[in-house]
Amino acid sequence: MNAQEGLRGSYWIETAPGGEAAPPPAGDISVDVAVVGGGMAGLSAAWELARRGREVAVLEAGRIAGGVTGYTTAKLTALHTLIYDHLRRTRGRESARLYADSQSAAIRRAAEIVDDLGIECEWEEAAACTYAEGAGNVAQLRAEAEAAREAGLPAEFVTGTDLPYPVAGAVRVTGQAQFHPVKYLRALTEELRRRGAAVYEGTRVTGLTEGEPCVLSTGDGVEVRAREVVVATHYPVFDRALLFTRLSPRRELVVAGAIDANRAPRDMYITPEQNTRSVRSAPYPDGQRLLIVTGEHFTPGAADVEERFARLAAWADSRFPGLTLTHRWATQDNDSTDSVPLVGPLHPGSRHTYVATGFGGWGLSGGIMAGRLISDLVEGREVEWAGLYDPRRLGSVVREGGSFLKHQVHVVRHFVGDRLPPPTAPAPEDLTSGDGAVIRVGGHQCAVHRDDSGQLHAVSARCTHLGCLVAFNRAEQAWECPCHGSRFSPDGSILQGPAVRPLEKREVQSL
Ligand code: FES
Repeated sequence: MNAQEGLRGSYWIETAPGGEAAPPPAGDISVDVAVVGGGMAGLSAAWELARRGREVAVLEAGRIAGGVTGYTTAKLTALHTLIYDHLRRTRGRESARLYADSQSAAIRRAAEIVDDLGIECEWEEAAACTYAEGAGNVAQLRAEAEAAREAGLPAEFVTGTDLPYPVAGAVRVTGQAQFHPVKYLRALTEELRRRGAAVYEGTRVTGLTEGEPCVLSTGDGVEVRAREVVVATHYPVFDRALLFTRLSPRRELVVAGAIDANRAPRDMYITPEQNTRSVRSAPYPDGQRLLIVTGEHFTPGAADVEERFARLAAWADSRFPGLTLTHRWATQDNDSTDSVPLVGPLHPGSRHTYVATGFGGWGLSGGIMAGRLISDLVEGREVEWAGLYDPRRLGSVVREGGSFLKHQVHVVRHFVGDRLPPPTAPAPEDLTSGDGAVIRVGGHQCAVHRDDSGQLHAVSARCTHLGCLVAFNRAEQAWECPCHGSRFSPDGSILQGPAVRPLEKREVQSL
C-alpha cells in the first residue's frame, strides 16, 4: 500500500452529504425550462429562471453538486491565472474589460444569494493571487497586473504574500471569495424546490429533439417536454455545433490536510509554474485550517496518476513542512481553445437550446456568470457580454489556430492510432489486483480489470461517445477517454460524460 492510499475523497462531498437522492420523474413531464446538469452552471441558471417566475426542472444524472462542482478548489475569483494579458493581446482591451465585468458580477451575485438566503457555506472574502517563484516569470506577472487593472479589477503587482515561502512576484486582486461549493448548491437546491422547481437526481438525459416544445428523453424512457433547454453538463452531452473540436479535457489532482490556523495562508494562490500549483485554506475544527493544494494537470487516461499524486504531496510537504494529508481527489476541467467559456445558443440555428461549457479551471465564477447570461438570453434581454462568450463567435478558429490544431491532432491520434494493435499489451493473467489494461480479444479491444478479490471484469474499450479507446487510471480505478474526457467505472458504468451510454460488457470467459 502506498503512503496515500486510505486518504479520504473530496472534502466538499464528505462534509455536505446529500441524504437520500431525489427520485427521477415518475412519468413524462412538461415544463417551461429544462436544465440538464445539476452543477454550478445548471443550478445557477435554474435559480435565475425560477426567481423570474419560470417553471423549471433540473435533470441531474448523478447527485446534485456530485460532479465537477464537488471536486473543485472552490475559489470564486475573476483573476484566472494570466487571462487578462492573453485577452488583451488576442481579443482586445474591450473583451478583457467584459470578461472582468462579467466574472466580478458573478462573485457579487453569489455574495447576494448567500446573504439573501442566509446560506451557511463558509463564505470568506479573500484576495486572489497569481504568483511566480522564478524571477524569469516576473515580467509576465507585471503585464498581467497591468492588463487586469486596465480591465477594471483592483489588481496590483506585489512581492510579498502570506505564503510561507518566498515568491518573485504576484498579481494580487482584492475582494474575491472562497466558500464550500456543495453546501452552497445544496442550499440553493432547497430554495429552488421551495419556489416550486423540480430537481431530479439519478436522471440521465440521453436524447434531445429540438422543436416547440423541445423533447428530452431519459435513460428510463421518460420524456421531458420543455420550451427551453439548457445543457449544463460540463462537457456538453448534446453537441450540434461540433464544440468537441474546441474543448480539451484536463484532469487535475488535489491533496488536502489540516494545519495550524496560524500557518495557513488566507489569500488564494495559483502559479502556472511546475505544471500548476494552487493553494487555499478552508475552515476546519480545533484551531486548524484545511490546506488544499491542487496541480499536476494531465489528459484523462494518463498512466502515471499515482506518481503525480506523490509529486503533488511532496511539493505540499516541501512548502508546508509537517503537513499530514487526510484527503485527496481529482477534478476535471474543459479548456476551450481560446481560453474563454462557451455560453449561449447550443448551435447556430438554435432557438430554444443553450449550452454552458469550457470554463477551464474556473467553473464557479464561470458557472454563476453562465446562469445569469443564459437566463437573460432565455428572457430575450440584451446582455453586454453575450458576444464575448457566444459559442458561435466568429473568427475564433483563426485566433485559436495553434491550440485548435493541437487538440485535433491529439484526438486523431487516439481515434486512428488506438485502432492499431498495442505493441506490448499484457495478457489477462499478467494483471494484478486493481490493475486494468486494454487487450485485443477476437479482433475486439477489451478493457479488462482485475478487482481486489482477483476477479476479472471485461467491457468494450471503445468509448461510447465517439469511439476513441479508453485507458485505465489505476489511482482512481476508472476507465478514461483521452479524446473528450468521458470516464467509466471498471464495470463500464458512466462516471462522467459526454458519453451517455455505458461501455458494453464483454464475456470474461473469452479472454
Ligand atoms: Fe469522446 Fe470518448 S469522450 S470519444
